[in-house]
Amino acid sequence: METKPRISNKVMQMPKSAIHEMTRLSKQIEDVAFLSWAKPTSGAPEYIRKATMAAINDGLVDGYSESLGLLELRQEIVKKLSRDNHINAKPSQIIVTVGAIEGLAAALMALIDPGDEVILPSPTYSTHVNQVVLASGKAVFVPTIEEEGFVLDLEGIEKAITPKTKAILYCSPSNPTGTVFSEVQLRRLAEIALEHNLMVITDEAYEYFTYDGHRHLSIASIPEMQKNAVSCFTVTKTYAMTGWRIGYLHADEELIPQINKAHIPFAICAPVVSQYAALAALKGPQECIEEFRSKYLSARNLMCERLARLPSIFDYQKPGGSYLMFPKILLEEGKNSKAFCEKLLREAKVSTTPGVDFGPTGEGHLRLSFCVPEETINKAVDRMEVYLEKYLYLLKKTTKDLFQTLCKALP
Ligand SMILES: Cc1ncc(COP(=O)(O)O)c(C=O)c1O
Repeated sequence: METKPRISNKVMQMPKSAIHEMTRLSKQIEDVAFLSWAKPTSGAPEYIRKATMAAINDGLVDGYSESLGLLELRQEIVKKLSRDNHINAKPSQIIVTVGAIEGLAAALMALIDPGDEVILPSPTYSTHVNQVVLASGKAVFVPTIEEEGFVLDLEGIEKAITPKTKAILYCSPSNPTGTVFSEVQLRRLAEIALEHNLMVITDEAYEYFTYDGHRHLSIASIPEMQKNAVSCFTVTKTYAMTGWRIGYLHADEELIPQINKAHIPFAICAPVVSQYAALAALKGPQECIEEFRSKYLSARNLMCERLARLPSIFDYQKPGGSYLMFPKILLEEGKNSKAFCEKLLREAKVSTTPGVDFGPTGEGHLRLSFCVPEETINKAVDRMEVYLEKYLYLLKKTTKDLFQTLCKALP
């Protein structure tokens, strides 16, 4: 009798996460310069930790909350959305979620029927693709324009729309490219969505981390988009508390009960202890956000300066936001980014993430995270420099030797 577990086709077709695979491999090697995770290495600010301890000690966190989240927290989120995102919302338009990720998953579950198509500008965050698959949807990738800084190809998006298209899902600032989609592009995207009555689902996890005058726009701030946008935000990236798993979603009031139906089977409610942490985070002083932003900006500048000295190895677009970048590997070996990253880890002790994890146009790239101490960036690039320059030297030497051997063999 067949004893193999019977796994669903949906899960079987999902590739293993390369980020987690690189983490697993990195643990087998000592002293790795680790650039694989989009996870700030600084901890949550003290005022958040203190307020959370107080909530625990006061016995506030031991039971479930309303599935939508604590009313006081949703009221605070409404103020933040108005102040920073120019979104006019009511507490009844908010669901507090287990990070932005669970909000996205619940939104897709609520909106997508089997076979519905979801357009994803690519390269894109691999988790989004898996979420579409789990919701029984079909991911349709529309490549961004890399030479112009991975901007949206709006014509390409329009051409990709079919009668089956239900939604467009994007993250800006982007994981993995760091691109901040411009206001002009997003306004046009909104027009396209409205013309075809599509939903736009946004992942705005890196909303505060933008540089060089790039500005984050929430598409839900466009009044006409009220019914067509579901916007997912996080507390975890903003306040360097990814382990606390807390975020929130904003949508039209009529949609919320439907998305909540999908949220409950995943979570019942977001962890109440983290809801109190989020409340403290939003109510407290906000200076830490600017401190984190300027730290990431210096780290980005350092990473770009260092990569600029390796022009025969990497070609990169300067990220305008997030704490990630996505250089193209110019070496022949880079065409298989998974093999390249694994070799880089084994032989140079640098952990990155293969571009192939981020959709079809990600192949040939690697993702580097720069929310790490500057010494980690220097260590990683020093090692890549030594290792890849040696590789280039050997390649040149082998080619030269081969050429000489051939010349000698010729009559
Ligand atoms: C684009 C993007 N969205 C969401 C997340 C996860 O956010 P959260 O911790 O709020 O679930 C990540 C984590 O790396 C991310 O890069």
